[in-house]
Amino acid sequence: MKKLALSVLSVVAVVSASFAADGKAIFQSKGCTACHQPAADTVGPSLKKIATTYAGKEADLIKYLKGEGKAIVDPAKEAIMKPQIYTTKALKDDERKALSEFILSHK
Ligand code: HEC
Repeated sequence: MKKLALSVLSVVAVVSASFAADGKAIFQSKGCTACHQPAADTVGPSLKKIATTYAGKEADLIKYLKGEGKAIVDPAKEAIMKPQIYTTKALKDDERKALSEFILSHK
């Protein structure tokens, strides 16, 4: 019985995940938090700084995360961010959109 309840739960989880990608969960599960804090610059610029730089340019941010854009926040440190693009490139479109919305919500 317990097993059945668990498998029902996981089906529900899969279905809801495909409904709306959760940008915050993606940001955390892909390790972005190691270098990006909400408001303080650490290894990477804060989410606030990224959101401010990309304000009104969501399409550019999505392009950047697809590996088709240029770094505009802190280009001198681009080499540290570059390997992460392999991760964001591999996301589905709706996941990348949710991730961008999460980042832009920090303005
Ligand atoms: C090893 C540290 C590190 C990790 C992990 C990391 N970043 Fe970064 N990130 C940086 C640094 C350093 C910069 C500044 C260089 C730059 O602007 O490209 C940056 C810049 C950015 C920018 C701004 C790009 C621009 O236009 O300049 C975005 C957006 C971003 N990161 C998103 C992410 C996301 C999403 C993840 C998780 C998949 C992630 N980062 C993981 C270090 C990291």
